[in-house]
Amino acid sequence: MPEWDSTQYLRFEEERTQPCRDLAARIRMERPASIIDLGCGPGNSTEVIAARYPEAALTGLDSSSAMIASARQRHPGWQWVVGDIAGWARGGEPHDLVFSNAALQWAGDHARLFPQILERARVLAVQMPANRDAPAHRIMREIAERRGIAGDVREWHTHEEGYYYELLAPRCRRLDAWVTEYLHVMPDADAIVEWYRGTGLRPFLEALADDAARERFVAEYRERIGAEYPPRADGRVVFPFRRLFFVAYR
Ligand SMILES: C[S@@+](CC[C@H](N)C(=O)[O-])C[C@H]1O[C@@H](n2cnc3c(N)ncnc32)[C@H](O)[C@@H]1O
Repeated sequence: MPEWDSTQYLRFEEERTQPCRDLAARIRMERPASIIDLGCGPGNSTEVIAARYPEAALTGLDSSSAMIASARQRHPGWQWVVGDIAGWARGGEPHDLVFSNAALQWAGDHARLFPQILERARVLAVQMPANRDAPAHRIMREIAERRGIAGDVREWHTHEEGYYYELLAPRCRRLDAWVTEYLHVMPDADAIVEWYRGTGLRPFLEALADDAARERFVAEYRERIGAEYPPRADGRVVFPFRRLFFVAYR
């Protein structure tokens, strides 16, 4: 997998950070002493949780050294760790609050991972995309299928909402869960392509042989996205994005 590109990711920082603020606002916990932000990326989610709990000891963990370098540049004094979420879940230091915004969909085997993470938390707060059936994703899969690479793509990974209820409810005393569909307003349909170049398209592009094949894939994707997300009356494009949230209290 090519390195995550924090600049590309942060082109839509406002839109990507809003769900994180919405998640942080729903946590019912007074004064967590220690917090870990799993898949902290360039530190935008860690900033949100630090603003809510300024006295807590905070750690940001991410497997991408480029993302951690970008986070460290924003906040040199905070604790940043290059590490794998699954590795931390198996034996990492427990924290009062385990927070994860838009990252756990990249980690596999949720049936094993989520209970392990919950064991290391008093409170677990998670947001993941829940829009695998949106046209922008369906189109990626259709192009991959036609180009014969579908089997090589390690797509992100989420189950339907009830799955997480069944997994977590028996393991905690309270579970708050909800779904929000954001209507992001983009300047044009190309911006949707740029959005996914920073995230969801990455595993598809990685499965292709070379840059020429990647360019052809993106060109076809761009054309199909343009047809699927037409301009509205003011010329801008509405980009619906559905997300699943939960806060589990052990
Ligand atoms: C979409 S970004 C989310 C960044 C940030 N939390 C936010 O709210 O915008 C996903 C991050 O998860 C990280 N990631 C993906 N798989 C991971 C894993 N197995 N262990 C640790 N970090 C992982 C990526 O490197 C990336 O920085």
